[in-house]
Amino acid sequence: MSIKNEMQDAINDQIQAEMFSAYLYLSMASWFDDEDLPGFSNWMRCQYMEETMHAMKFFNFLNDRGGRAELKPLEGPDTKWNSYIEAFEAVVKHEEYISGRINKLVTLSRKLEDYATESFLMWYVDEQVEEEDSANEILSKVKRIKTDSNGLFMLDKELASRALSPAAVPTILAQPII
Ligand code: FEO
Repeated sequence: MSIKNEMQDAINDQIQAEMFSAYLYLSMASWFDDEDLPGFSNWMRCQYMEETMHAMKFFNFLNDRGGRAELKPLEGPDTKWNSYIEAFEAVVKHEEYISGRINKLVTLSRKLEDYATESFLMWYVDEQVEEEDSANEILSKVKRIKTDSNGLFMLDKELASRALSPAAVPTILAQPII
């Protein structure tokens, strides 16, 4: 059964929100580069790619359900923050906003008795728990460090080790890499 227009429209809005998330984290990656914190920038670059993967999962799902992804314009994200704490507070706030949006999509899928979409959305429900948790964890660390430059150096080293999950790549590409 093809996806209903109301559900498709809501998912297209979510693709826009996920792409905005990608844009926001890429903007943060640029700011952290400028702050000479390559590990923080690496974390944000991975986040940017993960958000692209989140958008592409929706894109592929619409295609699988006989629907169509329609891309909408993106607003420009903020380009600088007053402190590292403020930047990570913005990440936490943004992820909470995205979790709220996912919950509303679940509510809509139930209202429309679209159980295929409801089942598909459970991946995002779980993912948002992880997204909020990792953002909160880094925010706590940044708050503890405050102005301790050694602590900042150590955290930057820790964040440099984050790598994109290989599972994300086939989601983004239509064809497997040969
Ligand atoms: Fe796609 Fe960070 O939520």
